[in-house]
Amino acid sequence: MTDTTDYRDAYPPSPQFAAEANADASIYDRAAADREGFWAEQAGRLHWHEPWTRTLDWSNAPVAEWFVDGKLNVAYNCVDRHVLDGHGDQVAIHWEGEPGDSRALTYSDLLAEVSRAANYFTELGLRAGDRVAIYMPMVPEAIIAMLACARLGLTHSLVFAGFSPTALRQRIDDAEARLVITTDGQWRRGAPAPLKTAVDEALGTGSHTVEHVLVVRRTGIDTPWTEGRDLWWDETVERSAPEHEAQPFDSEHPLFILYTSGTTGKPKGILHTSGGYLTQAAYTHHTVFDHRPGRDVYWCTADIGWVTGHSYIVYGPLANRATQIVYEGTPNFPDQHRHFQIIEKYGVTIYYTAPTLIRTFMKWGREIPDAHDLTSLRVLGSVGEPINPEAWRWYREVIGAGSTPIVDTWWQTETGAIMISPLPGVTAAKPGAAMTPLPGISAAVVDEEGKPVRLGETEANGYLVLDQPWPSMARGIWGDMDRFRTTYWERYAAQGWYFAGDGAKLDADGDLWVLGRVDDVMNVSGHRISTAEVESALVGHAGVAEAAVVGAGDATTGQGIVAFVILTAEAAARSGAALVAELKAEVSREISPIAKPREIHIVPELPKTRSGKIMRRLLRDVAEGRELGDTSTLVDPDVFEAIRASRA
Ligand code: WT7
Repeated sequence: MTDTTDYRDAYPPSPQFAAEANADASIYDRAAADREGFWAEQAGRLHWHEPWTRTLDWSNAPVAEWFVDGKLNVAYNCVDRHVLDGHGDQVAIHWEGEPGDSRALTYSDLLAEVSRAANYFTELGLRAGDRVAIYMPMVPEAIIAMLACARLGLTHSLVFAGFSPTALRQRIDDAEARLVITTDGQWRRGAPAPLKTAVDEALGTGSHTVEHVLVVRRTGIDTPWTEGRDLWWDETVERSAPEHEAQPFDSEHPLFILYTSGTTGKPKGILHTSGGYLTQAAYTHHTVFDHRPGRDVYWCTADIGWVTGHSYIVYGPLANRATQIVYEGTPNFPDQHRHFQIIEKYGVTIYYTAPTLIRTFMKWGREIPDAHDLTSLRVLGSVGEPINPEAWRWYREVIGAGSTPIVDTWWQTETGAIMISPLPGVTAAKPGAAMTPLPGISAAVVDEEGKPVRLGETEANGYLVLDQPWPSMARGIWGDMDRFRTTYWERYAAQGWYFAGDGAKLDADGDLWVLGRVDDVMNVSGHRISTAEVESALVGHAGVAEAAVVGAGDATTGQGIVAFVILTAEAAARSGAALVAELKAEVSREISPIAKPREIHIVPELPKTRSGKIMRRLLRDVAEGRELGDTSTLVDPDVFEAIRASRA
């Protein structure tokens, strides 16, 4: 198999799949004929305590209001109504712990647990609008905590449990969280690792807004305790009453803040609200994955700390009464069979993962999946970065028995839900293409001036923009509306379009191929990491005078982080190898192990333009071993000889 792109190579659904699918081709025409009417119809998937008076108010653009005056309770929609409809005994979550323990939670169980947590959060004095930070591994209580927040109108802010105390503190401070929910520890490849200690460290110095730290016992390891501040979940939440009546909130009530990397060092707190967000999460989960409750067993392998976990583990699937798998551990613990064993054990029908994992499976070899019965699978999904055609074909052939539709879903933390994707029962999908905007969504590929690119057989490159508002769009950056406008809406202000930050191209059929970020944001294993953030962690080390970071192509992770550093005079005398190891550890500690550079090169100088800007494009050429592009604007073109020597 070679990694070739053939724009005519397309995979239509089987006639039988198409005949039984949730959506047929007419949905595109219906949505195009009356976009707002279409979304109003989709909002009908939810229970509204009070109906809305207007579908969309865009008069305060770029801050949209969807389903104006409508009132709903997000948790009621994800839990209570399924129980009231007689599905209380249906399993909502098949949870698989890393060490091999498991738990099944029915919708009735979930209702009792969420109610207990809501009662206890109320007892703690938390009120609608307050912020709660959730710093937890993949345990059921994380989902219960999110739903309890939603139930009370508290705004949650999930912080990925792999993030450092520094990153956690930054997010706690920015959102002014009153409560932090965590676990004593987390399982990591068969051993418990402390987690609550990271919260202690985060809150260690300076004043903060946190009143309590609520701790779920997961590993049983020794846990330091601050009396009065710290509370055990099993001594509080679990002893609270399992009945709680959900109150309605405004459609635009803030549901969550989720931080994501931008072009500067400071993470952006992307704000999402309730009615529009839940509508699009539920609609896309239903349509893109062809999900049917009672039939499907759904598994999204993301972590709840990322937006994929929010929309496609918690809100979309639960709103649609899914039965789903939630897995705590890594794909290769205790061995490389783990995911395939889980698929086999539960008869998973829909599997949604990231290209980096598919490429890892390829590396491990097809004999691993081939050892399992994967015939239950009927839809495969991909998200997080462009999927290369070779990985796409392998996914279809080896995991999907050469027959399952693959949905390559393009979206972002900011879009809240899937925007561009094939529909499994409709689209003849092409390996590597996100294909077309979903019914109800409008996108374009345009040049610098906003003119649409011409369709081309191979090349029609431009910038991806979203030219119409959509229900699950971000409503702002927490505490920084100016940054929201400048980051996304300034570039095409004249047209009023959203600038996604991705390059894209259209093929001769008009199908869309996402090419990757066009800003200083890297994509490592589907995680967004800003070059500025890593640079600032590096220069935080006393030995580093200056640093430049680029994302270089990586066969498994999509991009790998490559750093070039200039040392201070004192550090220059030290051993390079020891220093590089120290710097890698520093970045892990400051940000997260996922931000650890693949390579760090000590260089005498960085390539700069006359205006002092670091030429990242040229550094990327060096990192990827390419011939150098135009160096004429550099102050000192010879600098590259020295940089090349450092990589030898
Ligand atoms: C960025 C958003 C959406 C949830 C996971 C990441 C890239 C995402 C695709 C795809 C090509 C993709 C884009 C985007 N991306 N999905 N199917 N094809 N690129 O969310 O952390 O907000 O990152 O991920 O570059 O802008 P995120």
